Amino acid sequence: MQWLMCPVCRENLSLNERTWRCQQGHSFDLAKQGYVNLHVVQHKHSKQPGDTPEAVDARRAFLSAGFYAPLRTAVETILQQYQPKTLLDIGCGEGYYTQAMQAHVQDCIGVDIAKNAVQRAAKANPNVTWVVGTGAVLPVLDGSMEICTSLFSPIPQQEILRVLKEDGLCLVVTPAPQHLYAMREALFDQVNPHEPEKFVNQLSDAFELIESQVVDAPLLLKQQDIQNLLAMTPYAYKAKPEKRQALETLAELHVTASFQIYLFKKKVEITAA
Ligand SMILES: C[S@@+](CC[C@H](N)C(=O)[O-])C[C@H]1O[C@@H](n2cnc3c(N)ncnc32)[C@H](O)[C@@H]1O
Ligand SMILES: [Zn+2]
Repeated sequence: MQWLMCPVCRENLSLNERTWRCQQGHSFDLAKQGYVNLHVVQHKHSKQPGDTPEAVDARRAFLSAGFYAPLRTAVETILQQYQPKTLLDIGCGEGYYTQAMQAHVQDCIGVDIAKNAVQRAAKANPNVTWVVGTGAVLPVLDGSMEICTSLFSPIPQQEILRVLKEDGLCLVVTPAPQHLYAMREALFDQVNPHEPEKFVNQLSDAFELIESQVVDAPLLLKQQDIQNLLAMTPYAYKAKPEKRQALETLAELHVTASFQIYLFKKKVEITAA
């Protein structure tokens, strides 16, 4: 694996024993769980950035129960179809989707700004190169990736363009308009549909949309599942506490998760003659 970039001097890093090093002598040790922290002080804005440990735990419990497996399968099918060899998962969290994607590529890198999420991910799967880092400076070399993925995570467009090969792909997953509608109805007086197309507009200068698919997962949630789902989505913070409490004490909830998958291809740069 020779795709990692030194966050200090931007040269390539090589792994020797348990240390990633560049030619300039900057070095980054593997943590005991097997990930590397490339989030250097210069790029840091907060002490514990990204998702909180509670959100990470809730998401892990919810996802490992298999509720979002239809999305994972749909993403795997796309990888089987396009067969990219190098993949960078941006905002990989505790790696539920990253691990599944790893099985379909040669080199798979997962990056997340939340150290506690990457720690959990690394324990579960040593076949992914797990990195604590930021989307603002993606931890891989220019033109090195055949696909970047961002599932419910930031989409740092300029950095994605930098690290993608010519013709590289970018897979984005974001809530579809009706995502968890019944749950949001219970939380808010007025429910605004999600607007996934805004990502297509945002990326349209540099990326061509080549596939668009909505995946629905009808769910029957028990009380603990409802609580986990609430803890992993941003909805709960915006809701009135009494509405949230009412939802959290329900015995069961029928709700449909609805995911928008977009696959983009980097547009060919037109250089002046
Ligand atoms: C909603 S979670 C999605 C996690 C994972 N992709 C999944 O679907 O299970 C968003 C993730 O983005 C990470 N994140 C937020 N800002 C980031 C940044 N600037 N750079 C890298 N990761 C970031 C968070 O720590 C969190 O793990
Ligand atoms: Zn260096």
